[in-house]
Amino acid sequence: MMQQPGRLIGLGVGPGDPELITVKALRLLRESPVVAYFVAKGKKGNAFGIIEAHLQDAQTLLPLVYPVTTEALPAPLSYEQVISDFYDTAGEQLAAHLDAGRDVAVICEGDPFFYGSYMYLHDRLAERYEAEVVPGVCSMLGGASVLGAPLVYRNQSLSVLSGVLPHEELKRRLADADAAVVMKLGRNFPKVRQVLEELGLAGRALYVERATMANQKIVPLDQVDPLSSPYFSLIIVPGERWQG
Ligand SMILES: C[S@@+](CC[C@H](N)C(=O)[O-])C[C@H]1O[C@@H](n2cnc3c(N)ncnc32)[C@H](O)[C@@H]1O
Repeated sequence: MMQQPGRLIGLGVGPGDPELITVKALRLLRESPVVAYFVAKGKKGNAFGIIEAHLQDAQTLLPLVYPVTTEALPAPLSYEQVISDFYDTAGEQLAAHLDAGRDVAVICEGDPFFYGSYMYLHDRLAERYEAEVVPGVCSMLGGASVLGAPLVYRNQSLSVLSGVLPHEELKRRLADADAAVVMKLGRNFPKVRQVLEELGLAGRALYVERATMANQKIVPLDQVDPLSSPYFSLIIVPGERWQG
């Protein structure tokens, strides 16, 4: 008889505080024989750190170690190609477990479909296997809550922007926004702060590192050390307060 394939599960585990994982994600995490997670070489992995305490001995851990840490690679290497090959290989590693009938939970910090690497596995595997995605509290919502910053009032619209955007494009989009979240800071921080200053938004903007994690840091924007701003940080420009 043909083996019933396992299920692919994209599991959002929330922004950092282990209590911000959903009841459903926790149940599926405990029930999954294989737990996969993305991690940088030599690191433990953010998502892994969030759920570590819930793992059981019988579960197989499948770390998916990123081959590169920067998008700037010397020719003839191309980041897109290296990373695409990596996701292909990771997909096949997962497929081997799924073919053997084992469910695989891919844990993701925040939400899997909000800038989460899980989506690249989903795109490769969801047509071949049953896939379920469990949403998580994403970082911008964790950030808004610890900053005490209501994001959007009444009919305002929210722009979610990547700090990787070039200066002028970021400026144009921020100038048009009622409220905004800028993700992926790290080495992009000095550019983002400069743009906010040029637009007169620096006084309204709020910055947080590792929101909801034990080592969370909220720093006034003008006091952030650009050399030590981590990738796990974001800026919120809240919508103008509406006196409802
Ligand atoms: C690859 S994206 C992952 C986003 C994640 N899937 C989510 O739902 O929030 C990584 C970016 O998310 C943001 N981020 C993730 N967790 C964060 C946290 N706890 N505090 C601040 N920013 C965070 C940072 O801007 C970081 O550069």
